Amino acid sequence: MKTVSFLLVGLGNLGSRFCQILLDKDAHLRRRYGLDLRLVGAADSRGIAADPAGLDLARVVGLKRAGETVAHYPEVGRDAPAAELVASADADLLLEASPVNLDQRAEPGLTCIRTALRRGMHVVTPNKGPMVLAYQELHDLAAEHGVELRFDGTVAGGLPALYLGQRDLRGALIERVEAVPNLVTGLIMDLLVEGVSWEEAVESARREGALEADASWDLDGWDAAAKLVILANAVLEFPARLEDVARTGITGLSPSELRSARDRKARYRLLATAERCSDGAYVLSVAPVPLLPEHPLGRLGRKQMGVVYTTDIYGTIAATIDEPDPIPSAATMLRDLLDIYS
Ligand SMILES: NC(=O)c1ccc[n+]([C@@H]2O[C@H](COP(=O)([O-])OP(=O)(O)OC[C@H]3O[C@@H](n4cnc5c(N)ncnc54)[C@H](OP(=O)(O)O)[C@@H]3O)[C@@H](O)[C@H]2O)c1
Repeated sequence: MKTVSFLLVGLGNLGSRFCQILLDKDAHLRRRYGLDLRLVGAADSRGIAADPAGLDLARVVGLKRAGETVAHYPEVGRDAPAAELVASADADLLLEASPVNLDQRAEPGLTCIRTALRRGMHVVTPNKGPMVLAYQELHDLAAEHGVELRFDGTVAGGLPALYLGQRDLRGALIERVEAVPNLVTGLIMDLLVEGVSWEEAVESARREGALEADASWDLDGWDAAAKLVILANAVLEFPARLEDVARTGITGLSPSELRSARDRKARYRLLATAERCSDGAYVLSVAPVPLLPEHPLGRLGRKQMGVVYTTDIYGTIAATIDEPDPIPSAATMLRDLLDIYS
């Protein structure tokens, strides 16, 4: 049995669900992979808790379900920032699941990830912020310290879009990538087609918890653009930045355009595209596009995302995911962890 001690920063939708997945799968992970996963430190926005002998996962989940903070974890909880936990606690791995916070230079995620890599910890994160702002720096830092940096959950939730591109298309030249990596824009466009007003559609998405606190992150296409940038760097090895993406959000779409697409049997989705040019560079764009049913992403439902890779030797490969709740996104942290340790 191998004991892996880990820190978890961010105990929201994903962090808490990840803890629950570990509780549910403990016996399976021990039997199948010989892994004893031990949470030795946890942080949320209000504090930290650390115990080298291991925190009780069920107690952490219970605190968060009750709207509490881990600062109130008995005896070892206290009011301190996540960065302090990562700088001081001994662990093999950091799981970083705090908010994207691009307007705050991706903090606290970026500092926590840098610190963990420098201290020789592997890092797994579904947080796009640090990967968009500092992809190459973090990649180099991981290599310098001989540790792994995994971020499968940053693109299209639980869909293994990055693994598919990086691992299963080895040796291929990727000519084109098309992805629908954002759920909430699809949901809103479908509601508009049904005659729901823009305000009601946005409010409904917010009620479902599908919309970021800053709605423009989703509606103006920033989220899809960030995911495309990560995919371009990780899969296409094209050093793209957010400003390289020609970005059009969904706010300019009129219900009549959406309905006329429906009359042609097409369905609008916010499509992120990377198109290879003759000089080997990629042109990156995000825009709402009417997709016909024969397009591999043309039948995506409201809670579905997808990716299509067009390659020179593997043909065209498409993958989609139905993600009615954030469990698949939380599970990407397990996928990454197992990829490191099994
Ligand atoms: N939700 C999804 O479906 C999904 C899918 C893929 C990727 N992601 C990414 O995964 C990450 C987490 O998403 P989420 O949905 O779990 O977010 P969330 O529900 O908002 O949870 C964020 C967590 O981070 C904590 N936090 C906020 N500021 C912090 C700080 N300064 N220091 C330490 N902890 C802090 C929050 O603390 P409190 O508990 O005290 O509020 C909360 O526990 C994000 O980067 C998101 O983009 C999410």
